[in-house]
Amino acid sequence: MSIQDNFRLAMRRYIYSVSIMSNRDSDDNLNAITVSSVTSISMNPPSILICINKSAKIHDSIVLGSKFCINLLNKDQQQLSDICSDEDRHDQRFLNKNWNTNNIPFLSNAQANIFCKVDKLSSYHTHTIVIGLVEAANFAKTISTLTYVDGKYM
Ligand SMILES: Cc1cc2nc3c(=O)[nH]c(=O)nc-3n(C[C@H](O)[C@H](O)[C@H](O)COP(=O)(O)O)c2cc1C
Repeated sequence: MSIQDNFRLAMRRYIYSVSIMSNRDSDDNLNAITVSSVTSISMNPPSILICINKSAKIHDSIVLGSKFCINLLNKDQQQLSDICSDEDRHDQRFLNKNWNTNNIPFLSNAQANIFCKVDKLSSYHTHTIVIGLVEAANFAKTISTLTYVDGKYM
């Protein structure tokens, strides 16, 4: 097997938390993408990173100073994760009634919402590493995080 095959299979052993990154672009269009590459960087300043494929629809709207939200999903939000990771279902991404789209779009019933401003962008081959400064965060009382391992939700 190639190093890529071994690496892919090794990474499938990780248990990921599933989030949706959401934003509003400069033309007022709403974007949402399922992501597992969310990692906190530091508490001082409160900061987070996400790796976004350059081919993703949301990619070009993520510019320095722009705002976004990371919505950590609940176990009962698997369908929303499927919609936001299906390139043929862009028109369905904001149909769910729990989206609050008054300003920066966020899921009002998520496990957590982390509101950020883009502080740094770093290009790495197929992906851009997005570093967000955390401006606000909230979380649900009960823990029920949607996880993903070996290509399946858990
Ligand atoms: C569980 C899961 C995690 C994902 N994590 C990421 C990620 O961290 N970064 C990324 O660019 N795409 C990730 N994807 C793939 C995108 O969600 C998918 O390719 C999406 O369709 C791309 O966005 P677009 O359809 O709006 O172009 C993930 C998909 C799944 C199912």
